[in-house]
Amino acid sequence: MSEPKKLFIKTYGCQMNVYDSERMSEALGGQGYVETKSPDDADMILLNTCHIREKAAEKVYSELGRFKGLKAEKPDLKIGVAGCVAQAEGEEIMRRQPLVDLVVGPQSYHRLPEMEARTRAGEKALDTDFPEEDKFEKLKNRPKAKRGPTAFLTVQEGCDKFCAFCVVPYTRGAEVSRPADRIIREAHDLVERGVREITLLGQNVNAYHGAGPDGDMTLAGLIWELNKVDGLERIRFTTSHPNDMADDLIEAHGSCEKLMPYLHLPVQSGSDRILKRMNRSHTAESYLRLIERIRAARPDIVMSGDFIVGFPEETEEDFQATLDLVEEVKYGYAYSFKYSTRPGTPAAERAQVDPAAADDRLQRLQALITRHQREIQDGMVGRTVRVLFEKPGRLPGQMVGKSEYLHSVHVKGTGIAVGDLKEVRITDSGANSLAGELL
Ligand code: 5AD
Ligand code: SF4
Repeated sequence: MSEPKKLFIKTYGCQMNVYDSERMSEALGGQGYVETKSPDDADMILLNTCHIREKAAEKVYSELGRFKGLKAEKPDLKIGVAGCVAQAEGEEIMRRQPLVDLVVGPQSYHRLPEMEARTRAGEKALDTDFPEEDKFEKLKNRPKAKRGPTAFLTVQEGCDKFCAFCVVPYTRGAEVSRPADRIIREAHDLVERGVREITLLGQNVNAYHGAGPDGDMTLAGLIWELNKVDGLERIRFTTSHPNDMADDLIEAHGSCEKLMPYLHLPVQSGSDRILKRMNRSHTAESYLRLIERIRAARPDIVMSGDFIVGFPEETEEDFQATLDLVEEVKYGYAYSFKYSTRPGTPAAERAQVDPAAADDRLQRLQALITRHQREIQDGMVGRTVRVLFEKPGRLPGQMVGKSEYLHSVHVKGTGIAVGDLKEVRITDSGANSLAGELL
């Protein structure tokens, strides 16, 4: 038998890209590729790119430039660009960087085998269509390799919300939900391969409305179906929009045993004036009332969020309103970004905030978030949590896993295996993780 060809994939950006990279690897697995951890011995290099914030395209071009030497040594090496930069830049990538053999947008990954064959025949291959067919379904001939205890599963893609700062509705297109039966089949398949926790992914995951046996299913409906899957122990989902937190989903947080008490619910700003300018169609107050309802259903839930500071026209007073909202919610995790101009989005045309002021706001917001994060983490000391162990820790004999609240927990333990789900008493809280002992 001939040596398998080697595939190196570098993944940028969100968890949906991580999922897509796995699917691309499987698709090319059918062409005789196995993954390698280094570009140096690769026969194909794929950059799975992200376009959400500035300089993304520039980073891709500089990364591509670094492969020049490799390609000179190895003329058969094929180089591809996938993901949202591929979608946004298209042919321009091949024009600017002739090293590139293949450009594939996020909706066309099922066509990779055929595209790869074209590159082998010496052609360039480009596909940035939004085809009708379900790319995931076409990628079904997955190798049944054993998996780790946690996995992502994309259930919907795209977004119809058009927040004024965001490129997603342009790069990923309109919202599309996968049919429920395919998702459930994929979940069974993951569980058979060793997965015990599934995180359902979507750019607007709680807008999920895939076809079910009796008409469209909601995300809560899908979660209840997955709750029945034997061997699956935990369900999470991300990312959600406040306006799609339906009653049945809030209720599921109170009553669905496998749904974990953690919710990523970005609000972006605490100022109603800015929220309006962002086209968010909710207010700070409506968001806070929503969180009250979620906490009434599940009092111990840990909240997570995203924030943008320095959005065009944001004043110090607007920023103060964001700090006030953060103070009220107290996030266990939150990601804050300095506004980054995305050409083609409505906000790109507006008066930009002084970058020094935006930097200063970002620091102040992050300091507050870190304080809360630490308080919540410290508050776990003395409590008993359930940890799903994912890998060995840095110290000998140590294992690391995640609690239901998504905190990393280190446990010194004999007889703990990857994939075990065990009760742990938290004894200590460090900078970014907890330590505990088996009960
Ligand atoms: N500038 C800064 N942050 C952005 N995000 C999306 N677009 C931009 C932008 N243009 C952030 C939002 C979103 C997260 C995934 O990325 O906070 O929730
Ligand atoms: Fe972008 Fe999320 Fe807004 Fe959609 S809801 S436009 S993905 S920030």
